[in-house]
Amino acid sequence: MSRIAYVNGQYRPHGQATVHVEDRGFQFADGVYEVWSVFDGKLADFEGHLTRLHRSLNELRIAIPMSEAALTRVLQETVRRNRIVEGIVYLQVTRGTARRDHPFPAEGTPPSVIVTARSIPLSRGNASAAKGVAVTTYPDIRWGRCDIKTVGLLPNVLAKQAAKEKGAAEAWMVDEAGLVTEGSSTNAWIVDEEGVLRTRDAQANILRGITRAAVMALVADEGLKIEERAFTVDEVKRAKEAFYTSASGFVMPATSIDGTRIGDGKPGPVATKLRELYLERARRDAI
Ligand code: PDD
Repeated sequence: MSRIAYVNGQYRPHGQATVHVEDRGFQFADGVYEVWSVFDGKLADFEGHLTRLHRSLNELRIAIPMSEAALTRVLQETVRRNRIVEGIVYLQVTRGTARRDHPFPAEGTPPSVIVTARSIPLSRGNASAAKGVAVTTYPDIRWGRCDIKTVGLLPNVLAKQAAKEKGAAEAWMVDEAGLVTEGSSTNAWIVDEEGVLRTRDAQANILRGITRAAVMALVADEGLKIEERAFTVDEVKRAKEAFYTSASGFVMPATSIDGTRIGDGKPGPVATKLRELYLERARRDAI
């Protein structure tokens, strides 16, 4: 079965799903995106991602392309047409098509809207989570507005590729002070030597992860101690546990960093429990 993409009002097989050569997403990375995970054909953390999408658009002064009801229908329809049971749906909104020129195009230029979906069996992520994954470090060379989920992901791409070349699943980016900011496509967490959960303050220059927020709510329910405070790579090496969160990876235990074992080198009880709780809640609340 050929995969189907939604592009500016039409559902098309991927091979025929195209945007204009002067789409500003292509020319300037002038666009934003969101990723929802799909459980039983339904979208998880729906409202959280939608709210962040509106915030990203607003910060960049890109028009909201369609009503919430219409967008919901397009996302659900793309999932349906691709027969996704477990996987992800990806939405990109760009500032539209106009002759290549840096300033914004004329008022009223319609934003481009692209939606794709992909099957990813949950069993694959569960297998990685049961073993734990390796992370490496990479300098955080990004701009000052990482709170906006833009498609300008080149530093993240370089970080992830460097990790891949070292056999790791994710790169944790490190700022000039030696503190971990976040993963290339995930938020970073540890359970420190005192047993306190730590993740960087979301008001710092990082993406305010929707999975991170959902996990924080679970942490509060479980009565676990948490501090939104950055940590060094050395603290990761001394931590009891480490893990990362994202819409595509949920809660993923990291068992080594730059080749140094974390804790006993196995997925820890806190990460394992939070993954289970997150999956349960996400599946229950998906729409
Ligand atoms: N990545 N940090 C960065 C830099 C990200 O790109 C992402 C998401 C996250 C986690 O955010 P959330 O929990 O809202 O997914 C943190 C998506 C999944 C991606 O780029 O595919």
